[in-house]
Amino acid sequence: MKQPRGRQEPRRVGNAAMVVTMVVSLCVLTYIKARYCSNPFPKAVAEVEVDEDYDSTRYKLTGPVGEEDFDPSRPTCYNTSKRSERCAAVGDIRVDGNHSRIYISPLSREWRTKPYARRHDAVAMDDVREFTLVPFGGPNDTAVPPLCTRTHSVPGFLFSSGGFAGNLYHDYADVLVPLFASTNHLGGEVQFLLADIKDWWADKFRPLFRQLSRYDVIDVNNDREVHCFPRIIIGSTFHRAMGIDPSRSPGGVTVADFKRLLRRAFRLERAVASRSGAPRRRDRPRLLIISRKSSRRFVNERAMARAAAAARFDVRIAEPDNHTDMPNFARLVNSADVMMGVHGAGLTNMVFLPSRAVLVQVVPFGGLEWLTRVTFKDPARDMDVTYMEYNVSLEESSLRDLYPEDHFYLKHPYDVHKKGWDAIKTVYLDKQNVRLNLTRFTRTLEQARDLLPTP
Ligand SMILES: *[C@@H]1O[C@H](CO)[C@@H](O)[C@H](O)[C@H]1NC(C)=O
Ligand SMILES: *[C@@H]1O[C@H](CO)[C@@H](O)[C@H](O)[C@H]1NC(C)=O
Ligand SMILES: *[C@@H]1O[C@H](CO)[C@@H](O)[C@H](O)[C@H]1NC(C)=O
Ligand SMILES: *[C@@H]1O[C@H](CO)[C@@H](O)[C@H](O)[C@H]1NC(C)=O
Ligand SMILES: *[C@@H]1O[C@H](CO)[C@@H](O)[C@H](O)[C@H]1NC(C)=O
Ligand SMILES: *[C@@H]1O[C@H](CO)[C@@H](O)[C@H](O)[C@H]1NC(C)=O
Repeated sequence: MKQPRGRQEPRRVGNAAMVVTMVVSLCVLTYIKARYCSNPFPKAVAEVEVDEDYDSTRYKLTGPVGEEDFDPSRPTCYNTSKRSERCAAVGDIRVDGNHSRIYISPLSREWRTKPYARRHDAVAMDDVREFTLVPFGGPNDTAVPPLCTRTHSVPGFLFSSGGFAGNLYHDYADVLVPLFASTNHLGGEVQFLLADIKDWWADKFRPLFRQLSRYDVIDVNNDREVHCFPRIIIGSTFHRAMGIDPSRSPGGVTVADFKRLLRRAFRLERAVASRSGAPRRRDRPRLLIISRKSSRRFVNERAMARAAAAARFDVRIAEPDNHTDMPNFARLVNSADVMMGVHGAGLTNMVFLPSRAVLVQVVPFGGLEWLTRVTFKDPARDMDVTYMEYNVSLEESSLRDLYPEDHFYLKHPYDVHKKGWDAIKTVYLDKQNVRLNLTRFTRTLEQARDLLPTP
């Protein structure tokens, strides 16, 4: 039986338990809008190779864990993965951020580097400032370093929020998880130098930076000071998308430690999800539906909310686009036991879910398993989140209304994939909305409930 189409969803939601939390839209910032809002997964994400980016045999770092920056046998700059180049030096170090130059003595030769963990991706790297490491003080060195105007006793750590930062997925995959893995062992005794800063971005993640560093972040490009350090590290290391390999991270830290730090930073109460929900929730686990407004929309979101309430879930709907109020949004996500949404950057909010919560990724029609796997399925494991997926059938997809039944796009999605990312994005990501079959949806929720831990 066909579901009636074009039927108006009731304007008002009958269920009083449902609160629609509208988190404001990132897209208000026009710069971001131009780059990301039409494309929550910029080109390069799709080009992520399906195999792991980090090959532990090829990029084996020797030396005691946590001391990798001091290995004198290693060149100043070296690759720690296919995606990450890092430079580390000890000595007389003077950072002239305004001119993107770092004077180092001793240093055997000049180096150039971009401190953003996506080196294999030229599109992203175009938007990352390059820094030049300039030798001085040696017999053959001609550079005259500037005088220090601020001297720091702790190491400097330089990273960038250029590239694709601003898209929540990239914030965590390219910047924040690598930053955590690279600096947590310093115990707060580190001065962050942030390049390509966007003020709103730095404000949004400041509570996280405070957990990692006792000192205010320096906006290194727009600052006339010459910052001097006894030691500097430039660029985070990268293990896997939103993941950390504890056998290689200083102190053996894991993503679980990262999540603990996020909970501290944003004062999140819940460590573990529960089948009966949080206390005082009348034995109802909370379902958070991640809403999208432009593409990949749940057309029957309100009906979904009613079905979920009927299945004894405490339901919330939220659109996580503008995180000016991130602490509140983080608390909302942390209050959920099950989070469900159509593939998109908003699912990155799983970083705030309590352990053993269930993430249900709704996979749009179009053979997108590989994309949904590398972006959220694999990372969910490191996050200690139970992963489920809901494959949208053609019957549930708005594509059925756009094309005749035997259209190439509907019959041969993998052939569309051969035409490249732009084709995939246009056909299956930008123009598709979904109307979930409520019977399947309710069954999925029951399965999710069964996967939740009993209190
Ligand atoms: C919804 O899914 C159920 C179970 O898969 C199926 O029996 C039913 O026909 C579907 N309903 C619609 C309207 O497609
Ligand atoms: C989104 O964030 C911007 C930047 O902080 C803020 O000025 C704007 O009011 C927010 N958007 C909405 C719709 O509130
Ligand atoms: C890292 O790898 C890239 C590509 O293979 C290479 O161009 C670059 O020079 C390497 N960096 C270092 C410091 O060896
Ligand atoms: C300085 O340059 C000379 C001549 O090119 C070279 O022989 C010498 O090894 C260099 N010294 C250092 C410390 O690089
Ligand atoms: C240096 O900083 C000023 C702001 O203090 C900024 O206007 C200028 O563009 C910066 N120069 C460079 C090369 O980044
Ligand atoms: C969704 O589709 C993929 C690819 O066909 C399949 O591997 C996976 O098992 C499906 N998931 C579910 C829950 O049916």
